[in-house]
Amino acid sequence: MIARWIIASCSILLGLLTFGSSQIIDNFEDIQGPYCSDIGCCLNRTDSCSKPIIGTLCYCDEFCDRHFNQDCCPDFWAVCKGITTTTKKPFTTTRPPLPPEPETLYSCDHNGVRYPIDTEIVDNCNTCKCELSGNDAIFRCEQNICLISPEIISDVNLNNRQTWTASNYSEFWGRTLADGVRYRLGTTKPHKQVMLMNSVKRYYDPHLLPIQFDSATNWPRFIFGIRDQGWCGSSWAISTAAVASDRFGIMSEGFESVNLSPQNIISCARGSIPCEAGPLDRAWNYVRKYGVVDEDCFSYTGSSESKCPIKRTTTLSSANCIPPKYSNRTELYKVGPAYRLGNETDIMYDIIRSGPVQATMLVYHDFFSYSRGIYRHTDLSLSHLKGYHSVRIVGWGEEKTRFGLQKYWKVANSWGTKWGEDGYFRIARGTNECEIESFVLGIWAKDLIS
Ligand SMILES: *[C@@H]1O[C@H](CO)[C@@H](O)[C@H](O)[C@H]1NC(C)=O
Ligand SMILES: *[C@@H]1O[C@H](CO)[C@@H](O)[C@H](O)[C@H]1NC(C)=O
Ligand SMILES: *[C@@H]1O[C@H](CO)[C@@H](O)[C@H](O)[C@H]1NC(C)=O
Ligand SMILES: *[C@@H]1O[C@H](CO)[C@@H](O)[C@H](O)[C@H]1NC(C)=O
Repeated sequence: MIARWIIASCSILLGLLTFGSSQIIDNFEDIQGPYCSDIGCCLNRTDSCSKPIIGTLCYCDEFCDRHFNQDCCPDFWAVCKGITTTTKKPFTTTRPPLPPEPETLYSCDHNGVRYPIDTEIVDNCNTCKCELSGNDAIFRCEQNICLISPEIISDVNLNNRQTWTASNYSEFWGRTLADGVRYRLGTTKPHKQVMLMNSVKRYYDPHLLPIQFDSATNWPRFIFGIRDQGWCGSSWAISTAAVASDRFGIMSEGFESVNLSPQNIISCARGSIPCEAGPLDRAWNYVRKYGVVDEDCFSYTGSSESKCPIKRTTTLSSANCIPPKYSNRTELYKVGPAYRLGNETDIMYDIIRSGPVQATMLVYHDFFSYSRGIYRHTDLSLSHLKGYHSVRIVGWGEEKTRFGLQKYWKVANSWGTKWGEDGYFRIARGTNECEIESFVLGIWAKDLIS
């Protein structure tokens, strides 16, 4: 009884493992000899109707032929059922493996999907083509460094090790870092001679500067919003027009609140190639000497095709602009000479007195994925490619972080409002992070009409 129970259990187990009982029959079958032919075939379950076999018992009763616990003697089938070994064999043979389909021999895998030879797929900023390589087929990809790097994003966000977080931007996905540096920035490094420019002297008590300040809160009606420069290296003109616009509004106390045209500078300033990086002194000198019209009159195209329709025009009416509503201005908008601000507190003092300032910063790979928080450059990129960009510092503040109290600048970027903190970013203050404090400019709006 016990032996039968054990072998039955084992058979069940083996049967399950082999998806049937054929294995057992085969095993017993190999052991030739007279079993059922000796003891005869028994009806129903007859435990005594058995013979020893490899240390256990085999049976010649009807019960042995039950699914999952076959413990029939090797000759049970032939003797009791009249089935010969050969007719039984087909049950025991396993299906031969199918020959590989011809196309799977030469196809490439991408995330578990197979693609035929010559297929092209796009992986972020790289195109990959399925090509033969020896006895295999593999995707060969371009080796561009992409503007959005999933590795940088996950490394920045890992365990909140940074004071800022990173995210993916669909606008940047699929583009190369080289494209980003060329067409999302657009300010040339200030020329050595320009860098020699002295900073203005300011007299104030730095202790009286507030802990936090935001131009947009202080002058809600005069601070212009966030632009999107598109894929056009024009930050040199955009930041200039933005700072000049804000200051026209602030200095005229609203009478001359105007959104000045960066396209006017891009298309008309001598030496400018539309959508290629330019120097800030060119932008300021142009606005100072010739003046510019407003955005409605000459709107931003963000394209490399551009003509200057208002060459040598000095009045708004000859430039076909709609005259401003609140002032009696007839001339184009001009500024005084730009002045340089030498250190952190001077910058703060100038902002609180006169409005946003223009700053030049060095942009590294990780900055493109900035999402929120206080930015500090990390060394996570595989690339050393970087470029200069100009932006508008609108305020400052302090924030408690897990690394202690952190001082920051609040800065307007020109990558649209979906980027960063509604188009703004915050960056460490007082440590010349990304050179942002090295070349900061302010201007005076000129010939204000009131
Ligand atoms: C034994 O088997 C026969 C025929 O297979 C059947 O009629 C009978 O009821 C069975 N007896 C028992 C006790 O199961
Ligand atoms: C980033 O965004 C793009 C477009 O929305 C998407 O196709 C891509 O899969 C995203 N990448 C990552 C790593 O989330
Ligand atoms: C910044 O420069 C001014 C002079 O323009 C000076 O009075 C002030 O102490 C300086 N501040 C710092 C933080 O160095
Ligand atoms: C504009 O000019 C008119 C007429 O010369 C004058 O009455 C008005 O006060 C001026 N407006 C402003 C805002 O200067």
